[in-house]
Amino acid sequence: MPTKKMTVGWIGAGRMGYEMAGRLARGGADVLVWNRTKAKAEPLQKYGAKVADDVSELAARDIVFCMVSTWKDVKEVVTNLLARGKSKPKMLIECSSISLEGSAELREMLDKKGIQYLAAPVSGNAKVIKAGKLTFVCSGPKKAFDLARPFLDSIAVNSSYVGEGELSRIVKICHNVFLGVVTQSLAEITILAQKAGVPRHAFLEFMNQSVMGSTFSRYKTPAFVNLDFKVTFTPHLLRKDMDLGLDAGRKFEVPMPLASATRDLIQSMIGQGWTEQDFATLLLQQAEASGLKLKPENMEVGDGLS
Ligand SMILES: NC(=O)c1ccc[n+]([C@@H]2O[C@H](COP(=O)([O-])OP(=O)(O)OC[C@H]3O[C@@H](n4cnc5c(N)ncnc54)[C@H](OP(=O)(O)O)[C@@H]3O)[C@@H](O)[C@H]2O)c1
Repeated sequence: MPTKKMTVGWIGAGRMGYEMAGRLARGGADVLVWNRTKAKAEPLQKYGAKVADDVSELAARDIVFCMVSTWKDVKEVVTNLLARGKSKPKMLIECSSISLEGSAELREMLDKKGIQYLAAPVSGNAKVIKAGKLTFVCSGPKKAFDLARPFLDSIAVNSSYVGEGELSRIVKICHNVFLGVVTQSLAEITILAQKAGVPRHAFLEFMNQSVMGSTFSRYKTPAFVNLDFKVTFTPHLLRKDMDLGLDAGRKFEVPMPLASATRDLIQSMIGQGWTEQDFATLLLQQAEASGLKLKPENMEVGDGLS
């Protein structure tokens, strides 16, 4: 349970931010939330959170979390947070998936103002947060991590500290490159098995119980079997992360052939206009490329979370 003495500001009540701030408020923290589209933050009041009209109201909070989309968005909201200059938080915890370079620029910006900074991206979607299985990967000064820990523990099942500076950013980028590649691979083998005659639910039941099954393959199973592509993570955000991975590959001179191919398959999906559903529509694209028209199997399959 977070200490009541410290107050929290929360920027961003999108799919992820809403659920994370909700856990924090339900855990007893004093949370003031700001979201560009205020109506999305308002339901958090039922958990005891307060909602701000302007992001600058959050500057007087002890700790401010940020969960928006891209580095450009992070820079904009943090600039506006500190614009009035009357007060400043002790620490900023930035959770969006952004580049190493963006994160370093943010650290410089905050250092100049004497604000501690923890880079703390996450693994898991909104449903994973609800199930209490989100994980943080953190970097920055160890003392910032120690100060943040009770709040992180109220949101997530685990927080790994990986070192100074922006190290957590590269860990998260690697994680999401893997997410893209694994999803494409799962789509390919599921369509291959189906075209050879195996129903998707039967194939995935075997895979999920095998040594190759994972929390991820289990929680994507309902989407693959019943074709429910309600968004958990958008194709645009996944393409951003694949691009971050390929940029990092260029910077560190690491070839990433699987990531490159997967990035372009995500690009094809976006180019065809498949942008408003979950990125798991990679399955539909793979089916089309294989001459298959998929139908929901309407089978009750578990997601391993609930
Ligand atoms: N979804 C996942 O499974 C997942 C998992 C791990 C990490 N992530 C990462 O977490 C971050 C958020 O993802 P999400 O799925 O929650 O996205 P989302 O549902 O699209 O939410 C984006 C949030 O950012 C706000 N925002 C974007 N640009 C802004 C700007 N310029 N100024 C102010 N607010 C702005 C949006 O405000 P409005 O409501 O006004 O649009 C919204 O609150 C991304 O970096 C993503 O890569 C996502």
